[in-house]
Amino acid sequence: MNLTRTKSIEQSIADTEESEHQLRKELGPLQLTVFGVGVVIGTGIFVLTGEAAGEKAGPAIAISFVFSGLACALAALCYAEFASTVPVAGSAYTFSYASLGELVAWIIGWDLILELALGASTVAVGWSTYFADVMKQAGITIPEFAYGEGHNLVAAAIVLILTAVICFGIKVSSQVNFVFVAIKVAIVLLVIIAGLFFVNTQNWSPFIPPAGSKGASGGTAVPSLLQDLGFSPGAFGISGIFTGAALVFFAYIGFDIVATAAEETKKPQRDMPIGIFSSLAICTTLYIAVSLVVTGMVKYDQIKVDAPLAEAFRSVGHPGFATVISVGALLGLTTVMMILLLGQSRVFFAMSRDRLLPPVFARVSPRFGTPVRTSMFTGAAVALIATFVPLTELAELVNIGTLFAFVLVAIGVIVLRRTRPDLERAFRCPGVPVMPVLAALASLYLMLNLPTATWIRFLVWMAVGFAVYFLYSAKHSRLATDPNYAREAERSSSST
Ligand code: ALA
Repeated sequence: MNLTRTKSIEQSIADTEESEHQLRKELGPLQLTVFGVGVVIGTGIFVLTGEAAGEKAGPAIAISFVFSGLACALAALCYAEFASTVPVAGSAYTFSYASLGELVAWIIGWDLILELALGASTVAVGWSTYFADVMKQAGITIPEFAYGEGHNLVAAAIVLILTAVICFGIKVSSQVNFVFVAIKVAIVLLVIIAGLFFVNTQNWSPFIPPAGSKGASGGTAVPSLLQDLGFSPGAFGISGIFTGAALVFFAYIGFDIVATAAEETKKPQRDMPIGIFSSLAICTTLYIAVSLVVTGMVKYDQIKVDAPLAEAFRSVGHPGFATVISVGALLGLTTVMMILLLGQSRVFFAMSRDRLLPPVFARVSPRFGTPVRTSMFTGAAVALIATFVPLTELAELVNIGTLFAFVLVAIGVIVLRRTRPDLERAFRCPGVPVMPVLAALASLYLMLNLPTATWIRFLVWMAVGFAVYFLYSAKHSRLATDPNYAREAERSSSST
């Protein structure tokens, strides 16, 4: 069994042209950027800002956002190089298959399920809470049987509706996304601008509360792996900025998902880097502004941990804004879920096309130009998880999964520069190998700032992944079972 067999870039690109596997190319730079913003702005900024400011960093949460944003920017350089060189669905999975070999690719594909499918389920559960809240404000109570822990039919319903949208085509998904993102960004801007009038600069002092300060009540702060190992003193002070950064990292997740749409982009070489960088830049700017405004409106130790933005406006006597924010969060979360589902179906599609998962899922519907089977399967699985599993504990698993993908993509860039220096790279990450090494280290550091329980869950998930690989995928892989295909992959990578 050859665990390091790679699939050449040329072969990956040739696969995208096989008629039964052809996705429709509809996206340009604007749609990609809006996709990025659509999936990035969600629970993170609407909810986690409170926990991170109130329990970890105080007003210095703004610095946490800068640090987390920088770590993402380093990773974005690596994603942009790969996505413009290998414009094939599957993102980090496909990149790893071309650079680090099949086993690592499988691991990454398996890991991306944590980011995308688990992420979508987690967000669906959060969505149902906002939905119930908005409905209540409109005087409608959701019946008991349809909404609650372990029987969340509301969460399942929204997942299934969005699954239908993504099956209909990438263009329809993109148009729906456009409308929702416009409203969501308008509401975030409204929060920033209206909030500015209520900022009391005294609330920013001390900007970095001393280590050991007492934080806001009502949260459930869990120590990080570094703290458990005795390497980090914990909340507030300088180390609080980093634990805060690891927590708010969730708010940035998604710019990397832009890369999963590479195969549906008209000019991926040019547009992928634009989509990735612009969405990241827009979101970073908005996040820093929101976190400054919120910590300026309310003293960090008074922040409401589970609804920081809405409560900030209630506390200054403007409850009407709280309703607007709930609607913004509801719409915001809708596109996050939709694009997570879209990303998951594309990774799944790419893995099935390579036969590491059953190939029946790799068929593209000639009518819609989308992988309808993978999309429906993904939607059904996510809906089931969202209905039955109480997910609050698992959000940090999404972070660790994504950060791990960043580490491997960064290493992949260095490896591919060595193994295939000849490839045409429309976008080149500057300062290789220093930048990718920094990207990997920054991601690793954020991983260490996550709770020990998250690490254990992650390792268990990975162990299951290894078992599936050795029991199924390694034997069914197209590179292993189709000699002509393997020969072609070999020939195309050595002939250049
Ligand atoms: N970045 C996304 C959010 O904050 C996942 O909801």
